[in-house]
Amino acid sequence: MHVSKTIQAISGAVVLTGAVTLISSCAEKAQADNLWFDNAVTSAAAQLRDAADAVDSTGLFPRSLMTDYSLEQLVGQMETSHKNFKVELLEHPTLDEFRTVRLCDAADWTAGFFPGSLWLAYEMTGDSTLRDRAVKYTNRMLPASYMTDTHDLGFMINCSYGQALRLAPADSIRTVLVRTADNLVSRFDPSIGCIRSWDFGEWNYPVIIDNMMNLQLLFNASKITGDQKYKDVAVKHARTTLANHFRPDHTCYHVVSYAPDGSVESAGTFQGKNDASAWSRGQGWALYGFTETYRETGIREFLDKAVAVADMVMARNTTADKIPYWDFDAPEGAATPRDASAAAVIASGMIELGYILNEPRYTEYAEQILHSLASPDYLAEKGTNCGFVLKHSVGSLPHGSEIDTPLNYADYYFLEALGRLDRVKKGLAPVDDFIS
Ligand code: GLY
Repeated sequence: MHVSKTIQAISGAVVLTGAVTLISSCAEKAQADNLWFDNAVTSAAAQLRDAADAVDSTGLFPRSLMTDYSLEQLVGQMETSHKNFKVELLEHPTLDEFRTVRLCDAADWTAGFFPGSLWLAYEMTGDSTLRDRAVKYTNRMLPASYMTDTHDLGFMINCSYGQALRLAPADSIRTVLVRTADNLVSRFDPSIGCIRSWDFGEWNYPVIIDNMMNLQLLFNASKITGDQKYKDVAVKHARTTLANHFRPDHTCYHVVSYAPDGSVESAGTFQGKNDASAWSRGQGWALYGFTETYRETGIREFLDKAVAVADMVMARNTTADKIPYWDFDAPEGAATPRDASAAAVIASGMIELGYILNEPRYTEYAEQILHSLASPDYLAEKGTNCGFVLKHSVGSLPHGSEIDTPLNYADYYFLEALGRLDRVKKGLAPVDDFIS
C-alpha cells in the first residue's frame, strides 16, 4: 500500500514535470511565434513616425524612393525589343535625386496609404503620437474627396478617412466618405456596367482590375446613408469585371476597354509584362477585391472567383520565399525584381479568404508571405529606408518607374495583413464591420 502510494506520487511528479516542460516549451514557441510579429509592428511604427516627421513641412506624402533603370534591364524583363514597348519611359532621375523620397500630393492615387498606415500602426501599438500624425495626414487628403477625374478615390479616401472613421468616428468623416462615393459613382456608365478607371490614354473606356479595390468605399457609403445605390453600382461593376477581365486559367488582364455599346474593345496590360501575362499586383487586386466583394454581398460567384484566383496565385507564384516576381510571367531568376506590394496585398486577401472558408491553407500561405516580409530581406532596419517599412517593390516596370523600391502601399497592406492575422489568431473576424 505504502509502496504503491510512493509510485503514484513519483509518477504524478513525472507527469507534472512533463506538463511543466510542455507548458514552458509552448510558451517559448508562442513567444518565438510572436517575436517576428512584434518586431515587425515595432519597426513599422518607428519608421512611420520618422517618415511623417521628415516630410511634415512639405505638406505632401511619401510615396516611394526614386529609382533608375536601364533599357537593357527592361528589355530583359519584358523579353521583347525596345521598339515593341507600348509606353513612354520615365525620365531618369538625376544623381542627387536617386534614392531620395518621391513625394506626392493628395491628388496622387497612392497618397491616402500613408495616413492609412499611420492609423493601422496606431491601432496595433496604441501610440497616441501615431494617432496625432494620422489625423494630420488624413486631413491633408481632403482635396481628393472633391475629385471626379479618377477612379482611385477608394484607395485615396477609404484608406485614409475610412480608417479614421473606424478608429476615431465623427460625422464630418462620414460626410467626406459619402461625397467621395458620389464622385466615384459619377464615373459609372450603366450601359457599360462599370466605373471608368482612367481619363488618359487611347482607350475608349478603360477599366482596370485595380478598380475592384475602390468598391469598399461604395459599400461603406451605402451603410452610412442607408441608400443602396452605391452598393448597386459596386455589384454591377464587380459582375461586369467578373465577366470580362479573366482568362480561362483565372489570371486577369490589367486593362479592359469597352466600346460605347458595352462590348469589349480590347483586353491587355499597362503595367504588366505583356497583354497575355499575369501582372502580380493585378492578381492580388483581383483576389483581395473579389473576397471583399463577397464579404459585402454574399454573392457566391464572387467567392468562387476569389478561390480560383487564390489557387492560381499559389500555383503560379514560384519563388521560395513566396514574394512574387513583379509579373508571374517574368523570367525566373535572381535578376528579376520582386514585388513586396503584390505579396502584401495577396497576404491580406488570403487571410480574409481563409477565414471566410475556414480553410487554413490560405491563412498559412499568407503567414509564409508575412514571415518573409518581416525578415531582414524585406523589412527595413529602423532608421534606414527613409522611413518606409518594406523594401523591394515594383511600381511599373514597363515604364521604368519605381523598380525595386519601397512603396507606401506595400507598407499599408503589410500592416493591414499583420492586423488581420492577429485578429484571426485571437478568434476574431479579420475585418470588423464597423459601419452598421
Ligand atoms: N493602381 C495602380 C497600381 O497598382 O500600380
